[in-house]
Amino acid sequence: MVAQVNTVAFQGIDVVGVVVQVQLSAGLPCFTIVGLPDKAVGESRERVRAALHALGLALPPKRITVNLSPADLLKEGSHFDLPIAMGILTAMGVLPAEEMASYTALGELSLDGTVSPVNGVLPSAVHANACDRGLICPAPQGGEAAWAGGRDILAPTTLLALINHFKGSQILSSPEPSPISDDLDTAPDLRDIKGQESVKRGLEIAAAGGHNMLMCGPPGAGKSMLAQRLPGILPPLDAEEALEVSMIQSVAGELNDGRLKRRRPFRDPHHSCSMASLVGGGLKARPGEVSLAHRGVLFLDELPEFNRNSLEALRQPLESGAVVVARANAHVTYPARVQLVAAMNPCRCGFLEDPAQACSRAPRCAQEYQSKISGPLFDRIDLHVDVPAVLAGDLTLPPPAEGSADVAARVLQAREIQMARFRKEGADEGLRTNSEADGELLTKIATPDDAGQALLTQATDKLRLTARGYHRVLRLARTLADLEGSSGVHRFHIAEALSYRRVAPTMRAVA
Ligand SMILES: Nc1ncnc2c1ncn2[C@@H]1O[C@H](COP(=O)(O)OP(=O)(O)O)[C@@H](O)[C@H]1O
Ligand SMILES: [Mg+2]
Repeated sequence: MVAQVNTVAFQGIDVVGVVVQVQLSAGLPCFTIVGLPDKAVGESRERVRAALHALGLALPPKRITVNLSPADLLKEGSHFDLPIAMGILTAMGVLPAEEMASYTALGELSLDGTVSPVNGVLPSAVHANACDRGLICPAPQGGEAAWAGGRDILAPTTLLALINHFKGSQILSSPEPSPISDDLDTAPDLRDIKGQESVKRGLEIAAAGGHNMLMCGPPGAGKSMLAQRLPGILPPLDAEEALEVSMIQSVAGELNDGRLKRRRPFRDPHHSCSMASLVGGGLKARPGEVSLAHRGVLFLDELPEFNRNSLEALRQPLESGAVVVARANAHVTYPARVQLVAAMNPCRCGFLEDPAQACSRAPRCAQEYQSKISGPLFDRIDLHVDVPAVLAGDLTLPPPAEGSADVAARVLQAREIQMARFRKEGADEGLRTNSEADGELLTKIATPDDAGQALLTQATDKLRLTARGYHRVLRLARTLADLEGSSGVHRFHIAEALSYRRVAPTMRAVA
């Protein structure tokens, strides 16, 4: 007889069903696992053996063959321990074979039989639900699995607890969803920032329409400080977004305590990070920072210091909202709909605009420094904002009256206008901000009045805007109009949007 237990394998955040088949047959005692197991799966033999020993059971003195089907799909991770052990116990007649068909199981086993946490419980629970099965997962992650809304979730602490449940001697109760993380109030407040009103306005616009932004200014002007305050003015994740974000965090093993978060992700990788850690990949094609920042902010501080290849690799996800990680043994797609916020000094010494402090090589050093960032990347940034040095007078001012809460309210209002408009136009369900509008939809929602169109046409010629630049100006102008509550896009919206576009240094000389 062949015992079967359902489990899963991960391809990005997609879950593929895997069946663990166990056969006990006559022959010399041995224990083999086939079906493209990686090292962690191969080692599960020892953990399963030890866990059964802890239960007082010995492996049957037979030929034990475990097949992970489909056999041509690479199986990675330690979550196969529990289904393999369950398969053997089913083949031994300890667990009821017919009930195993209505569950999907995943979990790692400790040598003492404890079921330990693994990555990817939330997407597995969603998958089990879709297949109309229950889920068996480690006890600490029961609350995470319950978020998928499945009817039957078992979260045993040990293998023994699971056996007792099926024997009927100690029934496991279904876990409750873990409480939502109350992290909304912990963001730093805009009130800490003195002066810099124009940059704050830039942040507000970027937040309202989900636009990419670059802050450029001398060291110590507050660029990093300003960027860290962006999550505080962004609206909280809605239920669907929170689930999407948590799925990625679950696969990456970053969903602490299984608590779903309402605050948008804010990822600020250091500039020494590798390409694989930024866009995803590596040995196991893990999600990168750009995917962990999905539906939130990817903050790249000291932009020109980043490895050039890493930055170029961001170009495609910034445009399409997804990363395709293709490796010899993997081909996975991760969502990566992020808002890029970057900060940089104008040159290496940082004091380009201040003749008293600038180095002797200015302005050539600035050209060299800025040329580390390619034109196509600059082209994807809607808002280029200069951050001037803070004046001593500003620093001694009392804190500004307006804090993050006031700005967040305006941002939320602008976002609601955008959502209502998208639903009215029958746009794709996933569309939420102006920055994502494209093609015909963009023409429909953001065509300016005649004066605005004339200005845009003229500016496109003069500033040599690319087609992408042209569309980005339209999206930004739409957001500016939404912040004001204006239904049409007018000339002054176009003018303000144009003022945020980067003018190349050569063009600046002409202007
Ligand atoms: N506008 C500001 N208001 C209040 N403090 C500021 C401001 N700008 C800078 N600071 C102070 O300077 C420090 C450095 O700011 P930071 O954001 O790291 O500068 P940058 O990233 O532009 O080099 C902050 O921790 C803060 O103490
Ligand atoms: Mg800084």
